[in-house]
Amino acid sequence: MKPVSSLRETAPPPPTHVGIIMDGNGRWAQGRGRPRIEGHRRGMETVREVVKGSIEQGIEYLTLYGFSIENWKRPAAEISSLMGLLRLYLRQEIKELDQQGVRMRFIGQRSLLANDIVSLIEEAEEQTKNNTALNLVVALSYGARQEITAAAQSVARQVAAGELDVSTIDESVISEYLETAGMPDPDLVIRTSGEQRISNFLLWQVAYAELVFTDTLWPDFSREDLREAINEFHRRERRYGATG
Ligand code: IPE
Ligand code: IPE
Ligand code: MG
Repeated sequence: MKPVSSLRETAPPPPTHVGIIMDGNGRWAQGRGRPRIEGHRRGMETVREVVKGSIEQGIEYLTLYGFSIENWKRPAAEISSLMGLLRLYLRQEIKELDQQGVRMRFIGQRSLLANDIVSLIEEAEEQTKNNTALNLVVALSYGARQEITAAAQSVARQVAAGELDVSTIDESVISEYLETAGMPDPDLVIRTSGEQRISNFLLWQVAYAELVFTDTLWPDFSREDLREAINEFHRRERRYGATG
């Protein structure tokens, strides 16, 4: 039997960037005859676990889809309890995340969030900006089509102002105008709860991501499930359009 150290040496490198569409909180609660918010509360605990698991696995970027721009269509009561949980998370977890060496960033339309939440987000980004153990990107009030539309507007403004030549606009220029500018594209996207769709998550950036769907509901998702998804990722052959 091989000693553990040499097994480790031969292990393939982890995906650099993992994105997670955290779905199934409501069904988790409803299956237990509990209010949906109970599922969101448990989902927050899963976030804690998955952040630790990501650091263990050596993942550099973890992007969590926490609230989509379309989620504003939900009943006011659910939105308000979700925002309450978000406040709680931002107040309670930042210190610990900071101690773990997590750098936090947020993407999505901040103008739709309450002012105090925007302040908490800005504080979290500022407080953790020098951390390097893990980049945790939280997508809140986020929609990829809206992000791409805003990028197109910015590019058009630059062109109209004579600051950008149309012939120089290529993929890297577009990427720079997205909220994820400077970050690598996701290598792996995991969606929980059995749904097999992207729901407006990082549409540009996931062009060549490997997609892993699991029936596990987000509150039940564990570090072990994260490991399994990464194992599945390692079994895939990424060809980027070329031959194998
Ligand atoms: C994911 O769980 C969390 C958010 C979208 C905010 P859901 O609330 O979508 O749970 P289901 O899909 O209804 O079970
Ligand atoms: C996607 O989940 C958004 C988040 C996980 C934050 P939804 O539950 O909103 O997605 P749909 O409506 O099933 O596509
Ligand atoms: Mg859902």
